[in-house]
Amino acid sequence: MTSLHDRHINPLILKDLNGANWHLEDYVKRGGYSALRRILEQGITPEQVIADLKASGLRGRGGAGFPTGLKWSFMPRQFPGQKYLVCNTDEGEPGTFKDRDIMRYNPHALIEGMAIGAYAMGITVGYNYIHGEIFQEYLQFEEALEEARAAGYLGDKIMGSEFSFQLHAHHGYGAYICGEETALLESLEGKKGQPRFKPPFPASFGLYGKPTTINNTETFAAVPFILNMGAENYMAIGRPNNGGTKIFSISGDVERPGNYEVPLGTPFAKLMELAGGMRGGKKIKAVIPGGSSAPVVRGDLMMNTDLDYDSIAKAGSMLGSGAVIVLDETRCMVKSLLRLSYFYYEESCGQCTPCREGTGWMYRMVHRIEHGKGRPEDLDQLFNIADNIKGRTICALGDAAALPVQSFVKNFREEFEYHVEHKHCLVPAYL
Ligand SMILES: Cc1cc2nc3c(=O)[nH]c(=O)nc-3n(C[C@H](O)[C@H](O)[C@H](O)COP(=O)(O)O)c2cc1C
Ligand code: SF4
Repeated sequence: MTSLHDRHINPLILKDLNGANWHLEDYVKRGGYSALRRILEQGITPEQVIADLKASGLRGRGGAGFPTGLKWSFMPRQFPGQKYLVCNTDEGEPGTFKDRDIMRYNPHALIEGMAIGAYAMGITVGYNYIHGEIFQEYLQFEEALEEARAAGYLGDKIMGSEFSFQLHAHHGYGAYICGEETALLESLEGKKGQPRFKPPFPASFGLYGKPTTINNTETFAAVPFILNMGAENYMAIGRPNNGGTKIFSISGDVERPGNYEVPLGTPFAKLMELAGGMRGGKKIKAVIPGGSSAPVVRGDLMMNTDLDYDSIAKAGSMLGSGAVIVLDETRCMVKSLLRLSYFYYEESCGQCTPCREGTGWMYRMVHRIEHGKGRPEDLDQLFNIADNIKGRTICALGDAAALPVQSFVKNFREEFEYHVEHKHCLVPAYL
């Protein structure tokens, strides 16, 4: 059986872990809480912490890849009222399952990263919003919080310093849209999880209308490692503009699906090797490299692409949350798109007309094509509907629904045309 660390190259967050050693005692043995201790004991300034994060090249691991140091510098430190720090462990995108492993194997790295963030931004209260469908990890995180409080790493006057930080877990509701940062804030406030108009952004109007910084679980968990190894060393693991390691959740037609932490810039072919190659020795047809909202890429192109934000963008897609979905030669691209379109149609919160209506239209058209009732004009029509959703909605779920449709039709048009003309699938397995 493959052990967890056979899967990784230069791992940081998932290094040397198994199901048993997530507890505080083991984390401290591995050097845990030393970054927070050094900051507080040596009086390292908040400005220095933020400067280090900027130098590390860390980009948000929740999907958009926004530079974390820059986001932290937006927080108005001198704001006289309450400010909040929020961790986004909603993780509802199809294909993404990395944050629950961080919660399962290294919850104290997340707690330490949040405490350092709170210090850097002058925040005293934080929440971790955890997806409603992951129950075990939520309970374990509550236990980890208790351990950290009892040892003085959370609470009042942390490690005898003047810095206090109260961190709470919040179990969410299992809706994909609650991962969108402003919908998450609404949900955390006890309201229906629907995105807010932006601006104002959470840095000025966040939780309960107060300045708030939101980051993804993996983003926070990387912070202690960056400060321990030094920003330049972290940057050097990856590539310029793509610092450090990234956890890729690989699923689909590979021999060993799972989470793999590798340096940004690792060739996709190497990740495939770690994951045991294609299941049953079949040929690769397509890859969705960054979660279900990222455009699909043809398999041969992906096999020559490196796993970093810039290289994947050059291949026409996005690194997103790092959820890599691999499809082999037997997969029908129409049927695959039908499944994805249904997801976005189901998950639209319904606030904006282009998203609410457009996702339904796209789903019904792909359904029609899949079931032998497609018309030749449907393909251009699909493209057109997607174009009329993109950029015309309150939140990015609209774009997330439109991009797969356009990329599937563009990159695998021959399969869609075959379905329309012959009323059945081109792929022999589906005949
Ligand atoms: C529909 C939708 C769902 C999202 N789901 C998540 C999620 O589950 N986890 C996450 O971290 N970010 C998610 N995001 C992105 C967040 O809005 C936000 O950009 C992110 O949490 C910021 O953290 P980062 O800068 O560390 O990446 C989602 C965005 C959209 C539009
Ligand atoms: S884009 Fe869709 S999910 Fe986002 S606010 Fe509009 S209707 Fe809701």
